[in-house]
Amino acid sequence: MTASTYVARKPGPDGNIHYTEEENAVWQTLMTRQLNCVQHRACNEYLTGLARLDLPRDRIPQLDEINRVLQPATGWRVARVPALISFDRFFELLASQQFPVATFIRRREDLDYLQEPDIFHELFGHCAMLTHPAFARFTHIYGQLGQNATPRERGFLARLYWFTVEFGLLNTLEGRRIYGGGILSSPGETQYAFESDKPEFRPFNMLDVLRTPYRIDIMQPIYYVLDSLDDLFAIAGMNIMAEVHKAQQMGLFAPTFTPKQTAV
Ligand SMILES: [Fe+2]
Repeated sequence: MTASTYVARKPGPDGNIHYTEEENAVWQTLMTRQLNCVQHRACNEYLTGLARLDLPRDRIPQLDEINRVLQPATGWRVARVPALISFDRFFELLASQQFPVATFIRRREDLDYLQEPDIFHELFGHCAMLTHPAFARFTHIYGQLGQNATPRERGFLARLYWFTVEFGLLNTLEGRRIYGGGILSSPGETQYAFESDKPEFRPFNMLDVLRTPYRIDIMQPIYYVLDSLDDLFAIAGMNIMAEVHKAQQMGLFAPTFTPKQTAV
C-alpha cells in the first residue's frame, strides 16, 4: 500500500479541531447524499443510533460531541489517531472500548471511494452502531482477542471484523438491511448491496466467515447475513479463537473474485 497523502488534523489550543470551509463542505456533501441513501437500506438499530448521534449536517463534528452520546449509551468513546495506526494500537484501543478515528476528511476528488478510513467513514459508518449494546460488546471482545493474537491469528480475525463491523447485513421483517459501516459510508456499495443481484448472501457462520478471503478495493462479492443483531452477543460469547484455529487448519475458501493485478 502506498503511503497516505492524508494527515489527521490536530486540535488547536482551544481543544477543538478547526476544519477548513472546504473540509466542512465535503462533510456536508457526504452527509446529504448518504442520509438519503441509507433510508430503508440501513437496519433500524443503525438509524436509531444515527438519530441519537444527531451528527451536524454542515460541519465536521468534534469527537467530544460524539462521546457525549456514545459513553452513556455503551461506555464506548472515539479516540483521535493519525491516518494509519499499527495493529497493536488498533486492538489496544478496541480492547479499552475506544474506537479509533483519524481526524481527516477525504478530498472532493476522493468523494466516492477512499481506501483509508476517514472521519466520515468512522463517524457516519460506525458510531451509530456503537450505541447498540450487542454491537458494542462484540467489538469490545474482538479487540481483546486481537490484542492477544499472533499475526497469523489476526489475519483470520480480520475476516470476522470485515464481514460484520465493516460489511455485515441483517435479516429483518422488512427484508435484508445493512449494519456494516464499510457499506453505509459508501453510496455505491449501499445501493449495490441492497439492489443488485450480483453479490451472494450467505447466512452468518463463524467458520465460513473466518475462511472467506476478501479484497478491500472492490464491491464485495459475498456478504454474510445475521438473523438478529443480538446474535452478536452470542458470537461474542463463543470460543472464537478455537474457531480461528479450526479455520487455520482447514484453510481459506477459494476466492470468488479475480486476484488483484500486481503492477508490472
Ligand atoms: Fe471501518
